[in-house]
Amino acid sequence: MDADDDRTMPPIPDSEIAVNWGDFWDWLGVYYSHGEHGVIYQTQGYPDYLIKVVNCDITDDDGMNDKITEFFMDNADKGISGIPKIMSIVRCESEDGINNQLKVKAEEGGASWMEIGSQVLDLEVGDELGIWMMEQVPYIGLTHPRLTRQEMIRRVARAATEITVKTQVILKDLRPPNYGFRNDGSAVIFDPHVFDSPLDFTTIYDSQSAETSRYMNYWRTIKRNAKV
Ligand SMILES: Nc1ncnc2c1ncn2[C@@H]1O[C@H](COP(=O)(O)OP(=O)(O)O)[C@@H](O)[C@H]1O
Ligand SMILES: [Mg+2]
Repeated sequence: MDADDDRTMPPIPDSEIAVNWGDFWDWLGVYYSHGEHGVIYQTQGYPDYLIKVVNCDITDDDGMNDKITEFFMDNADKGISGIPKIMSIVRCESEDGINNQLKVKAEEGGASWMEIGSQVLDLEVGDELGIWMMEQVPYIGLTHPRLTRQEMIRRVARAATEITVKTQVILKDLRPPNYGFRNDGSAVIFDPHVFDSPLDFTTIYDSQSAETSRYMNYWRTIKRNAKV
C-alpha cells in the first residue's frame, strides 16, 4: 500500500503542543464558514472541531487578527471555560502551497475563493498566518434551546468577565456571531476581540468591585448588541 492510500489522520494532540503547517495540512477539511476576518474550515475526521485561518498581517481593524492569534497562543492552556478549547495553534508564513490548499478546500466546501480569498484572507506569499484547531460550538449567538435570553446574556457576560480576570484582557465586539453555547449551556466567546486599554480594570485597587463593574459593562454591551 502506498502512502496515498493511508487515510489515517494524525492524532489530535490533547494539549497545546508545537505544531507546524504540515499537521494542519492533514487536518484541514472543507470550508465551513467565514466572518470578516477569518475563514473557518472543518477538521477532517473530527466532526466536533473547526480550523480557523486568519492573516495576521492585515493591519486594518487595529491588527485584530494578530492580537487574537496571540491571545489564543498565550491563553489556550489556562483552563478558561469561556474560550473554545484550542487543540493546536500555529503561526507560519504563507507559501504558494499553503495558499493553494486553502483555496482548494474552500472551493470543495462550496465557497467562492474570489470572494473570501481576496476579501477575507487577502493572502500574499510571505504573509503571516494564524491557524488553530478549536472546539466547535453547537449554538451560535443567543440560541441555546434550554436557556432564557436573560440567562444566556448573563452567562456570556460571566464568561467575558472570567476571561478578563484570568488574562487581563478586555473584550470588545461582543455580538451574537462572535459567541455561542455548548450543549451543557456554558457560554463560549470564540472570536474574542482584544481591546487595548484595560486601565479602568487593572488600576482599580479593589479587584472584587472591579470585577463587578466589568461584569455590568459586559452585560449592558451584550444586551445592546443582541437587539434586533
Ligand atoms: N468555534 C466555533 N464553533 C462554531 N462556529 C464557529 C466557531 N468559530 C466560528 N464559527 C462560525 O463562523 C463564523 C465566523 O467566525 P468568527 O470567528 O467570528 O470569524 P471572524 O473573525 O471573521 O469574525 C461565526 O459567526 C460562527 O458562525
Ligand atoms: Mg467574528
